[in-house]
Amino acid sequence: MPSQRVLGVAVIGAGKMGADHVRRIHDVISGARVTAVADIEAERAQLLADSIEGCTAYTEAAAAIAAEDVDAVLIASPGPAHEAALSEALGRDLPVLCEKPMTPDTASAQRILEAEQRLGRRRIQVGFMRRYDAEYVQLKRLLDSGELGAALMLHQRHRNLLMPPGFTDEMLISSSVAHEVDATRWLLDQEITAITVHKPTASSHAPAGMNDPQFVLLETSAGGLVDVEIFGHCGYGYQVQAEAVCERGTVRIGDERGPRISADGRWGARIPPDYVERFEGAYDREVQTWVDATRRGEITGPSAWDGYAAAAVCEAGLVSQREGGRVEVALIERPEFYE
Ligand code: NAI
Repeated sequence: MPSQRVLGVAVIGAGKMGADHVRRIHDVISGARVTAVADIEAERAQLLADSIEGCTAYTEAAAAIAAEDVDAVLIASPGPAHEAALSEALGRDLPVLCEKPMTPDTASAQRILEAEQRLGRRRIQVGFMRRYDAEYVQLKRLLDSGELGAALMLHQRHRNLLMPPGFTDEMLISSSVAHEVDATRWLLDQEITAITVHKPTASSHAPAGMNDPQFVLLETSAGGLVDVEIFGHCGYGYQVQAEAVCERGTVRIGDERGPRISADGRWGARIPPDYVERFEGAYDREVQTWVDATRRGEITGPSAWDGYAAAAVCEAGLVSQREGGRVEVALIERPEFYE
């Protein structure tokens, strides 16, 4: 594909993330335009498509992906709908940026790995956007430089103001902790070998019957230990923090954002309400990088293997959450294709 050509993108799913990505492609990044929007809710698709000149609304992902002016696909429908849309895109040999989770379980993730390998070249990037966040990138560079020696442990906290209605215990692992699972694999360059999910006393602010917060322990292939606090209803904002404990020092990100204000006998900085604001720069860089690579005829960033590996860890996590105790993660052998 000639690099001058503006990429026509079909966005699948016109909800919170889909609408934000449409805005981003239209207003923020260069080299792409949204030519199709698909949502099973016809009105939602139409409303979003109407906000973009030359954009057509569809109620079926397959129809949007098949449209003539579509060169690439951004999937932002719920996880269980991803496999069908990914298969359509792969069937047409189109590059895809697929929001996490790539698919909700390992069986479907393996089918996607096989379909992509049959094509003979990578087509899928998975939307683990923390890899594009400025602070995470700095942390990764520092760890890779070896300046602090080997990383021995990671402490991670993932706190939300509150969760949308219908958010379940299972989603705390498969939707939220999935980010820390990928961040851990990426930062340490190791696979996760076992997971234990603990359920401390539930907050009285969590919906009845929900075990929130939860505390997750990950073990890694080189013997590292990683803890993750996931708190869906912390009540004060959206906060993501990570600290690496290395042989010669520690490094911590996510503490303070924006200016520190002193007033009314207190000091502090603002805490964003949600991920759309906290990770705005990361989403921008993620989509711009995807568009740039796609126009060069390449796929970079987190791969379908990363999507599969995260699904495998989360699947084991759900067993631990349900039955208690430590659960080992069973990964298939990594195909050379994804080396
Ligand atoms: P949402 O519920 O706001 O939007 C999903 C939309 O997809 C809805 O409009 C729904 O009608 C539509 N939809 C459902 N089935 C469909 C199908 N088969 N074809 C086309 N459209 C369909 O959900 P949200 O929060 O926008 O999440 C979408 C995806 O983004 C999920 O995979 C989620 O895990 C991911 N996500 C990623 C985040 C990140 O930080 N990277 C943050 C939040 C969500």
